[in-house]
Amino acid sequence: MNKLPYSVWPDLAQHAQKMQDRSLRQMFDGDPDRAHRYTIEAAGVCLDYSKNFFDSDTQQLLVRLNNEVNVAGLARQMFDGVALNNTEARPALHTLLRARVAPSGLEDKYAEVTTTLKRVKNISDAIRSGTWKSSSGETIQHIVHLGIGGSYLGPKMVDEALASNRASTGQDIDCHYVANVDAHHLTTVLASIDPKRTLVIVVSKSFSTLETKANAETTRNWLLTEIEQAGLSAHLIAVSSNIADAKAFGIHEDNILPMWDWVGGRYSVWSAVGIPVAIRYGFEVFSHLLDGAADMDEHFINSQPETNLPIVMAFLSTFYQHCFGAGSHAVLTYDHRLRYLPDHLQQVDMESNGKGRNLEGKQLDYDSGAIIWGGEGTNGQHAFHQLLHQGTRFTGVDFVMTLLPDHEHQHHHDKLVASCLSQSQALMQGRSLDEITDASSELQQKHKVMPGNRPSNTLILERLDAKRIGSLIALYEHKVFCQAAIWHINPFDQWGVELGKELGDRILNAMLGADENLDGSTQALLDRYTANRTASRTASRKS
Ligand code: F6P
Repeated sequence: MNKLPYSVWPDLAQHAQKMQDRSLRQMFDGDPDRAHRYTIEAAGVCLDYSKNFFDSDTQQLLVRLNNEVNVAGLARQMFDGVALNNTEARPALHTLLRARVAPSGLEDKYAEVTTTLKRVKNISDAIRSGTWKSSSGETIQHIVHLGIGGSYLGPKMVDEALASNRASTGQDIDCHYVANVDAHHLTTVLASIDPKRTLVIVVSKSFSTLETKANAETTRNWLLTEIEQAGLSAHLIAVSSNIADAKAFGIHEDNILPMWDWVGGRYSVWSAVGIPVAIRYGFEVFSHLLDGAADMDEHFINSQPETNLPIVMAFLSTFYQHCFGAGSHAVLTYDHRLRYLPDHLQQVDMESNGKGRNLEGKQLDYDSGAIIWGGEGTNGQHAFHQLLHQGTRFTGVDFVMTLLPDHEHQHHHDKLVASCLSQSQALMQGRSLDEITDASSELQQKHKVMPGNRPSNTLILERLDAKRIGSLIALYEHKVFCQAAIWHINPFDQWGVELGKELGDRILNAMLGADENLDGSTQALLDRYTANRTASRTASRKS
């Protein structure tokens, strides 16, 4: 057990012990209505959580925990712009980016949001209609989106999720997302496109991130191989809160869209950071994304805890982590177009809740954020699902599927859905020794036993459109928020990433000859690198 500091804890822990002896299969046998009772539908997302260790007593405990944590009050504060990010004294107002009306007291910020959205619309309309001309008078054919972390994962995920809309919007502007400083990626992308028809979007809230700066500089030089300096502004856009550095980099002020310090990078896809989505699919589609998220916001803020999607999902994950020993949570997407959702959620969840101190700075004496992982079904079934089915670790699982495909091969979709359902069914029902009649030996018979009684959620979207993608992402954002509230941590800072950045700078200095007084291990690794670096340079010079 991983004790939580709430008065409800003893009852929760005791209840968990009782639930651990229960059989999910039998819960269904004894209750024909279970699947319906434990299904919630809101903002176009349906959550079937009936395959969980959950009954009416669990529900009461959920409500008690929720009340004791004051999730509703904290959520209200987040929406109202209270500075919940207490280590940086800032609000976290990603919900404002998709709000339908200005919340009271936030009118000024809301005006900035709507003005920026208008600019996103104007730019994306101009590119799509062809009125935005490149320096050579041509239309834009390629987008290169440079950014990392939240300036990359969200837009890339949404862009891929909307892939089926590409044909219907009649546009064929391609978009290449480059995050890694490893130039193997950037050079491959740049080699495949024409600078004269390329728009580069540099997305960096800080405009100081090493990877994005390096990629932006190399890409600007590449543009300049074919374009005069004076024509560069038709090829460069920035999205940043650091307007001064974006300008100093050579981006025209009219082409710099703002980000704000009151939106975290991992929550920023709803801002101008999502501009590639507007360019590729049209501003209307982008606005549907915001609409779907707003639907989820309204559901989250207005619904009772027992019918509240983010609250129920957060409770289940926390319950399993603290009472069943779950250390990780898998998101398995049974829709190829959602294959980058686990990557995006890794940042949203792990960068938010991977914290060791509480809001008052005290070291936690219980676990916080889980390891989030996953991948697309059916591929995972032939790879890592083995561990889910027979491994010794308790893992939380979300299956995500869509009812209606956007292709004509219904029989493929039938197989995909059957696979998804089979996995949650196999996890739950398992297979006992007696049920195995085809084993070639006693040993094999034992190895074919499937323990079962493993819970999971199934999330269902009717169709993968922009609105429902928006709802789905916002659902996970709020799930993360609820868990942070339970753990009494700040989900909106990320100090843990800073040390590596500083040390990286020092190692770069050491490569240039500075004495950085590195530890023996790092120095030895660096020596090996620099020796080979020099050797390979010499060799290439000779050849
Ligand atoms: O290093 C972590 C981080 O700051 C993330 O929080 C952020 O999303 C990413 O780097 C990119 O930051 P920026 O948008 O400032 O380049």
